[in-house]
Amino acid sequence: MKNNIKSENKHISLEEMQKQSDFIAKVSTVNAQKEAVPRAFVETYGCQQNESDSEKIKGMLLDMGYEMCSDTGSADLVLYNTCAVRENAELRVFGNLGALKHQKRRKPDMLIGVCGCMMQQEHIADTIKSKYKHVDMVFGTHALYRFPQILSEAMENQRVFDIEDESGSIFENISVQRDKPPLAKVPIMYGCNNFCTYCIVPYVRGRERSRNAEDILNECRAVADAGYKEIMLLGQNVNSYSNDLSDGLKFHELLREVCRIDGIERVRFMTSHPKDISDELIQTMAEEKKICKQLHLPIQSGSDKVLSDMNRRYTRAQYLEKLAKVRRAMPDIVLTTDIIVGFPTETQNDFNETLSVLKEAEYDMIFSFIYSKRRGTPAEKLPDSLTDEQKHKNFDEMLKVQNEISKRKNDAYVGRTEDVLVEGVSKTNSETLTGRTEGGKVVNFSYLSSGLQADELIGTIQKVKVVQAQTWSLLGEL
Ligand code: SAH
Ligand code: SF4
Ligand code: F3S
Repeated sequence: MKNNIKSENKHISLEEMQKQSDFIAKVSTVNAQKEAVPRAFVETYGCQQNESDSEKIKGMLLDMGYEMCSDTGSADLVLYNTCAVRENAELRVFGNLGALKHQKRRKPDMLIGVCGCMMQQEHIADTIKSKYKHVDMVFGTHALYRFPQILSEAMENQRVFDIEDESGSIFENISVQRDKPPLAKVPIMYGCNNFCTYCIVPYVRGRERSRNAEDILNECRAVADAGYKEIMLLGQNVNSYSNDLSDGLKFHELLREVCRIDGIERVRFMTSHPKDISDELIQTMAEEKKICKQLHLPIQSGSDKVLSDMNRRYTRAQYLEKLAKVRRAMPDIVLTTDIIVGFPTETQNDFNETLSVLKEAEYDMIFSFIYSKRRGTPAEKLPDSLTDEQKHKNFDEMLKVQNEISKRKNDAYVGRTEDVLVEGVSKTNSETLTGRTEGGKVVNFSYLSSGLQADELIGTIQKVKVVQAQTWSLLGEL
């Protein structure tokens, strides 16, 4: 392996991390003297990156003597880890915070915190400061590692606001409380340098910074030892992994190293920016058995004009050429994308281009969003070409077009036998289990006739025969 020189300046110093450990000890001493074990409720909005951050928050909370609970009613501490990507995510957080006001009146000792991407925006932090006085802790994405100190100060009846923008810091060696096996999320980099004109992420997450390969691989080895079978490598743009390191492994090289780890059977990653996806990555995906044949490649729009206004830095033709390359190397690959409907400069013709690109690309599934104006982004100032009503009509039409494609794609799986990593009992039917194919498709399947117990199957890869296709998932039999 190449020598991966550390960029020491970006790592939070050992002294600072020690200071936080001291706060963990302090809070846990206080909690140990309480009559009952205090309970914490953490709710996460937004992307996998936020979920991964919440796993660290939960890890720190457990270290500080809390147990986790699943509702605000029985919680001594409530924390919302927020997302700023669209307005509706922000409104939900304000709604939930409002509802907690009465609860706190009845239970004045309760601590309430909000953290994550929303808090990295000044106007939001200001609103909470002036209008949500029952909130005790406000901290941004860059302050995550200081949570023990923030909590300790809040326990001493201070209102804590920690929203400095220290873009560029990385910290290691924080406890992580993951969901049970088989799936583990491992961040490989933070932040984004792309500045798509609609997007708030670069402002709330700071510039791209990569973890050292050794730290990533050590974490992957640890999750393998703990019984996890599938690793999802996370970053806003995983293809630019290590561009900020002086001598790091390239993303495809990192992938190969992760595949060498015993016990890990599947490797996925999110998200790839189309402009940065390399031939080496495509080749590595095709060659490495453990890399799932699945790619999420957000196109956002099918119109060159809109793509340019979005600052995506590829054309429709360039994108489709990459997609063709991927399919040549892996004919069975499952492809998904993100689409934004109603970007300000999008006309009806541009929207029709998006419809036509969906028909051409034939994605297995799309994640689609109506454009949401974000304060401080370049697109904020652009006037709208279409009315809200037209945007919603277009959105519905697009879903109709895509649902037909998704259903047709899923129909092709009927009769096939797929390797399914079993994740758990289905939420809707306790007599079926749920899992994913290598391509990432959800399969709900019956297993009772096999004579095996759910516990024996969860966390293993099983052969499942697909018997029926739905738009969003498959039904099968073990
Ligand atoms: N880094 C990833 C994910 C970014 S956020 C990427 O580039 O693909 C996930 C998705 O949210 C984006 O792909 C985009 O489709 C959508 N999105 C981002 N900003 C948005 C906005 N202002 N309005 C609507 N959708 C948005
Ligand atoms: Fe946002 Fe673009 Fe960065 Fe994705 S690549 S996080 S859409 S700025
Ligand atoms: Fe949302 Fe922040 Fe992720 S804005 S999409 S939680 S990086």
